[in-house]
Amino acid sequence: MNCLSPSILSADFANLGEQIRLLDQAGAEYVHIDVMDGMFVPSISFAFPIIRSIRKCTDRIFDVHLMIEEPIRYIDDFVDAGADIITVHAEACRHLDRTVEAIREKGVLAGVALNPATPLETVRYILPKVDMLLIMTVNPGFGGQKLIPYTLDKVCEARNLVKQSGCKTDIEVDGGINLENVEEAMDAGANIIVAGSAVFKGEIEKNVEAFLEKLQRQ
Ligand code: DX5
Ligand code: ZN
Repeated sequence: MNCLSPSILSADFANLGEQIRLLDQAGAEYVHIDVMDGMFVPSISFAFPIIRSIRKCTDRIFDVHLMIEEPIRYIDDFVDAGADIITVHAEACRHLDRTVEAIREKGVLAGVALNPATPLETVRYILPKVDMLLIMTVNPGFGGQKLIPYTLDKVCEARNLVKQSGCKTDIEVDGGINLENVEEAMDAGANIIVAGSAVFKGEIEKNVEAFLEKLQRQ
């Protein structure tokens, strides 16, 4: 199934609760929550108090994308704050298998993210333990960047790897996705679509509806 995961990094933080309710009402299935530590990526975003607060605004799936070093240190805290899916970067984990196991043990879904230059091979052996593979389509750290074209070839390869392995892993794309290129990303094999600026610039509800129309058509 194709799902939309709007990234609240591009939201108006002065009206965050209201904007999340708009996403929910318009039918977005997930809420994509970008956590940045100023080490793994240059920016610092937000973490537990914000996630805990917005948990009261919606029952939609909280898709937490951790752009932090050694995320294993904080898995329990993110689960307690309300995460439904926790995605860690392969590049940020000294022991990726142990980190994925720690997420699964808490009873939430486990995702693994790969930066544009990281080979797909990195996840071959742990794929059966991974609920979602996040193929970054920009270098992580900021909203509003342009999609790097070769990353869509990687999405294609990822879809083939998932098929060959017989796993049911979802494939998510994140970075520079808009109404013009979302179909290309889905054709490549992505089924969970993150969009930040393309959802929050202009009218949120209209943007979500336009995305959902494209997602449902496939
Ligand atoms: C980038 C973040 C993204 C970002 C996407 O590091 O992981 O989730 O918010 O924003 P857009 O869709 O504007 O590229
Ligand atoms: Zn993200």
